[in-house]
Amino acid sequence: MTELHRSDDVDRDWWRSAVIYQLYIRSFADGDGDGLGDIAGIHAHLDHLVELGIDAIWINPWYPSPMADAGYDVADHRGIDARFGTLADAEALVAAAHAAGLRILLDLVPNHVSDQHPWFQQALAAGPGSPERERFLFRDGRGPDGTERPNDWTSCFGGPAWTRVVEADGRPGQWYVHLFAPEQPDLNWDHPDVRADVEDTLRFWFDRGVDGFRIDVAHSLIKEPGLPDIGARAWDKQPPRVAPIPGVNQTDHPHWDRDEVHDVYRSWRAIADSYDPPRVFVAEAVVPDVSRMARYLRADELHTAFNFDFLKSPWRPELLRTVIEDTLREHAEVGAPPTWVLSNHDVARHVSRYARAVQVLGVNLSELQGPVDLELGRRRGRAAVLLSLALPGGAYVYQGDELGLLEVEDLPDDALQDPSWERSGRTDRGRDGCRVPLPWRAAAPSFGFGPAGAAAPWLPQPDWFAEHAVDVLAADPSSVLQLYRDALAIRRAHPALGDGTMRWIERAPDGAAYGAGVLAFERDPGFVCVVNMSAEDVALPAGTTLVLASSPLADPTTLPPETTGWLRRG
Ligand code: NOJ
Repeated sequence: MTELHRSDDVDRDWWRSAVIYQLYIRSFADGDGDGLGDIAGIHAHLDHLVELGIDAIWINPWYPSPMADAGYDVADHRGIDARFGTLADAEALVAAAHAAGLRILLDLVPNHVSDQHPWFQQALAAGPGSPERERFLFRDGRGPDGTERPNDWTSCFGGPAWTRVVEADGRPGQWYVHLFAPEQPDLNWDHPDVRADVEDTLRFWFDRGVDGFRIDVAHSLIKEPGLPDIGARAWDKQPPRVAPIPGVNQTDHPHWDRDEVHDVYRSWRAIADSYDPPRVFVAEAVVPDVSRMARYLRADELHTAFNFDFLKSPWRPELLRTVIEDTLREHAEVGAPPTWVLSNHDVARHVSRYARAVQVLGVNLSELQGPVDLELGRRRGRAAVLLSLALPGGAYVYQGDELGLLEVEDLPDDALQDPSWERSGRTDRGRDGCRVPLPWRAAAPSFGFGPAGAAAPWLPQPDWFAEHAVDVLAADPSSVLQLYRDALAIRRAHPALGDGTMRWIERAPDGAAYGAGVLAFERDPGFVCVVNMSAEDVALPAGTTLVLASSPLADPTTLPPETTGWLRRG
């Protein structure tokens, strides 16, 4: 047991207020010089995370994988890919992180495995009707020769969610489901082996001191018996939105968000609770609205979930306010703390999203429109950070957010590795633009991502990454890195921040209602946050003193446009 776990007065509720750093391992730091980030790289840069002031790290998949989907095609959930290190390296990292006061969450991928996983290889070899095939979703094709796919489901990466296999006799045979790439066959969650194996994986890592798991596609796993067509069901026809539509039945989808999945999470919660201190889960549950998300957070299920409505919201005050209110209401219903997320490894970086003139719902730049104003995006990005860290609950920082990184929008075609690129017929450029390896030192080869003489990083870094290098930002008191460090230090010390409640402040000091472009709220004891999203200066509330602002103030009582202020009352 490591330092964090030995203490008798360990804070069991740490996750209710935690700021969790998403560490995308392949792009964080390359310790061995092969061009891919690794455990040695994390180890070498733990000081960056400690200085930043986060509470925990979530590490994207580091398991043995053919990397058809950047490690989300797992061949062995209880091992470490040799490119990232060894199991002993992983154990040493957990110990070192705990000694540094950081908790570690890993990424659990329960919906699918790699096509190189021994179970899938056995299923291919064993043939139709075999027990080995029962662990997956194999079906005969439709039509006289079985040449038509068994239903109309589509892959999230484009194209059908079915691939036909070649049987041992060399003939085209059965089809199998893959909601993602063909290299990621879906598991059959009605099979006891599948349930038992994932529970073994949980215990394997919990026994090694890991503090919890992020659950990949937590809204999937269970499929409707008979695997029916989606057809014209209402669920998929509804337009995307950021506010729930009360009373609308959104449960009728054959493979997303099925009610039966909650039994799985009840069994996992019992396992997590059997550890001392209890281990925790965060769900990646992409569901139509926050009321459906809250169902994953009932007292005997998962602890927290990523708030994708907040992430998806355009930089528009009325929509952000609706998201915040809906989030707080629905989480209060189940007693779970909300989370506030701006970016992750699947979406365009928020500074680039906020730089678009037309702010509409969407997380990929192709969905957003209008001229691009990067200075405005940067200013809004800084304002958004202080908003997200002031709201009740926990928050996520995606690696590179603290460096103010933009989306790399001009990666060469031949560098792209996201399966979406090829599967969409080279129309969807995918998610590589937010996954480019981090810059650590402006003047070093690969900006210090790898050691001297290392292979080129797995994705090319643009020249402008030099301006975002950790050493450059650390030397600049006005940098976005310093803003994160200041905000996280204040948050850690302030009794009003983290889990809890908030009240909107509706009126400006002169008694007039704040304009529609201002979000202002207070939290007890004595904390006020004002986000000025309008084009006008805004007077700060009477009786407050500025503690931190996302952009410089010309006058300490006035907040300029596109700026968030943290204030002390009294
Ligand atoms: C969600 C992950 O965040 C994404 O990166 C991955 O491609 C899919 N799940 C499939 O595992």
